[in-house]
Amino acid sequence: MTAPIVIAGAGIAGLWTALHAAPRRVVLLTGWALGENASTAWAQGGVAAALSGDDSPALHAADTICAGAGLVNEDAARLLAEAGPAEIEALHALGAPFEREADGRWALSREAAHSRARVARVKGDQAGAGILAALIGAVRAAPHVEIREGWRAAGLLQGEDGGCAGVIALDPEGRRHDLPASATVLATGSLCGLYAVTTTPWTSQGQALAWAARLGAVIEDAEFVQFHPTAIDTGQDPAPLATEALRGEGAILIDRTGRRFMRGVHPDAELAPRDVVARAVHRQIKAGRGAYLDARAAVGEAFPERFPAVFAACMAAGIDPRRQPIPVAPAAHYHMGGIATDLDGFTGIAGLYAVGECASTGLHGANRLASNSLLDGLVFGRRAAETIKSASFANISPANQTGVAPALPGGALRTLRGAMAAEVGVERDGAGLSRLIALIDDLEARHGEADALIAARFVAAGALARTESRGGHFRSDLPRRGVQALHTRMTLAEARAIRPLAAPIAGLAE
Ligand code: SIN
Repeated sequence: MTAPIVIAGAGIAGLWTALHAAPRRVVLLTGWALGENASTAWAQGGVAAALSGDDSPALHAADTICAGAGLVNEDAARLLAEAGPAEIEALHALGAPFEREADGRWALSREAAHSRARVARVKGDQAGAGILAALIGAVRAAPHVEIREGWRAAGLLQGEDGGCAGVIALDPEGRRHDLPASATVLATGSLCGLYAVTTTPWTSQGQALAWAARLGAVIEDAEFVQFHPTAIDTGQDPAPLATEALRGEGAILIDRTGRRFMRGVHPDAELAPRDVVARAVHRQIKAGRGAYLDARAAVGEAFPERFPAVFAACMAAGIDPRRQPIPVAPAAHYHMGGIATDLDGFTGIAGLYAVGECASTGLHGANRLASNSLLDGLVFGRRAAETIKSASFANISPANQTGVAPALPGGALRTLRGAMAAEVGVERDGAGLSRLIALIDDLEARHGEADALIAARFVAAGALARTESRGGHFRSDLPRRGVQALHTRMTLAEARAIRPLAAPIAGLAE
């Protein structure tokens, strides 16, 4: 009997892939209850698509390409933009409650670096939760999908031919199971949980990058981490988000004295590209001036109804955003790089596919356009499913038993997360990246090749190898953009070969 398709991860990309793989049999692994610990559920803005009369897929693709700072795969951008409207219709048909205007047109928000209002939203800032609920309902009702909740993927089975033969999973009691697969799809999401300050679940630590890299997959542009400029700065882990749609509505960024600081930074002020706003916020905070999102005039009394998730997060922290500016700070939010794939999710390793945030088709280049991420999961998840189900796969026999990587102990993980934020954050430089690589070497020597360390190494190595500043990657020691737009692409051996520039500087230790 042909083995099932095994999908690791149950955010928008994993669920959409599972649904579109019908009638092929799918085993869907999620380490928690469906819907828990998925970044999708926390997405506030919505789904970008050319849905209005004054918009077009060509404009959406052009904005995506422009935001990506010279590194966007233009075929990916065109595919995404052209498929966008139909994907919104498909989600709506499934029950995702996108908002409509009184005359029946889609209600659309404007976000940074979009030339049109094109973000389809759900109950103000509830897009991710609303969409995920509809997807979960559909997947639970789909007879071809076997959902294993509480089953955590922990690695990949290497096939005799070097391909991927399936997934190593730990059941809710922590027992190991080797699950053979005719095709394996990685959809585990982000690596931003490697950072001390993040808007994603902290459990999202780039595990799939480590698993794929151990089988020989190439990791692309790992240094491109997007920092959201306006995470609510109240010391929570993960940090709640104050959606960019607030700035689209006219909320402004001010310092402690009330000065509107983005005006002097970029002609588009608060709606400048996300990396520009994140750096400006970072510099305000570093200079001791503080950064606040002031939505009192722009949203005011409508806050609870228009932005219920942000309102609840602020009130829980003792801030009333109707009357007070919200303290904000940049937080690791999205990984543009990932496991290199083609436009059908294929990683180049027989039997292994990757979709959503853990994959890199090159769609986002150096800087993702706001609200393109959910659409990425939909469009490329569907394409991967169509490709996999139309192919005839021979089952791949597992080679020798592969071990499960050791987990990083709590103290070491805290050290790593702090160092990632300090050394490969909004601004980086060669000395800090060298310290980080030395720390990763040291942690690996003490604790073994944990998945988190492998993922962190790819980010640090990519950032050290990229001797320029571009998009989300800003090197304060190399602030100019290079003449040529180049991708970093590394195997695990190549990432290990990137060594610290100089002797590590004392200061980072577990
Ligand atoms: C936001 O709502 O600001 C986040 C949207 C996104 O990251 O695409």
